[in-house]
Amino acid sequence: MSTDAVPTSADAALPRGGTLATSEPSSDRGEPVLSARGLVKTFGRVVGLDGVDLDLYPGEVFAVIGDNGAGKSTLIKCLSGALEPDSGEIRLDGKVVHFKRPQDARDSGIETVYQQLAVIPALDIASNLYLAREERRPGPLGSVLRMLDKKGMRVRAGESVRGLGIQTIQNMAQPVETLSGGQRQAVAVSRAAAFGGKVVILDEPTAALGVREGNQVLEMIRQLRDKGLGIILISHNMPHVWEVADRIHIQRLGGRAGVITPSSHTMTDGVAIMTGAMKLEQ
Ligand SMILES: Nc1ncnc2c1ncn2[C@@H]1O[C@H](COP(=O)(O)OP(=O)(O)OP(=O)(O)O)[C@@H](O)[C@H]1O
Ligand SMILES: [Mg+2]
Repeated sequence: MSTDAVPTSADAALPRGGTLATSEPSSDRGEPVLSARGLVKTFGRVVGLDGVDLDLYPGEVFAVIGDNGAGKSTLIKCLSGALEPDSGEIRLDGKVVHFKRPQDARDSGIETVYQQLAVIPALDIASNLYLAREERRPGPLGSVLRMLDKKGMRVRAGESVRGLGIQTIQNMAQPVETLSGGQRQAVAVSRAAAFGGKVVILDEPTAALGVREGNQVLEMIRQLRDKGLGIILISHNMPHVWEVADRIHIQRLGGRAGVITPSSHTMTDGVAIMTGAMKLEQ
């Protein structure tokens, strides 16, 4: 685990065995766009998720932190249709949903950037942005001959990349394999931003990035929040989380250890709860 500037022996700064008040939101945010109750996912004898609850509201950045193996990726895979939970309930806009595949979640307005980056290196940027959503040319060329509207997709890809303030990518016909790691990540986040109708889920979007690209992704996240989307951000980078998150879900040993906010708790508190040195009153 890397927590950047945060001391890992966080318990030294806190009274052992003490408790902190939890920070679940008051009810002035309206209804959650996405919620989960009692999610359980096991892999043979390994418990990935042990009955996890979550509420994501429109227009908020909801960070998920936790140690390696705490269940963060498993949680978002259940929310995005990449895994089917063994039990529990997921609601989107209040309605129960059962996603069997990622495409089901995408069709419902949930876009995910997975920890293992889902771009196809040999394709160009525009094709990556429009992967599984290719647009056909207008008229019979598209409807009968199934010809792709490559030019249109490049123009629109350029607009969405530039709309997110990414200036380092100029040519949408450039193959993704020739981009830097940070630029590839930017393409993946742009795709999520361009198509995420309601919810965008980002699993470690800044892990492989330099300072400048990392800050750019944070800025993109703020823009998406300001558009009213609900954002779930998984990160080990505590300064990033404390900078951008509205609320922070702490995942520990497959369960939810608590939900805090950057103003209610320090990074040191967060790490202490994550490691079990500190317990939250739930
Ligand atoms: N497909 C799988 N098969 C078996 N075990 C799995 C599988 N996926 C996850 N697990 C296990 O479930 C637990 C939670 O894993 P998960 O990937 O959700 O952790 P994480 O919090 O995302 O960790 P990291 O910070 O390292 O990304 C781990 O013990 C992991 O080994
Ligand atoms: Mg993970």
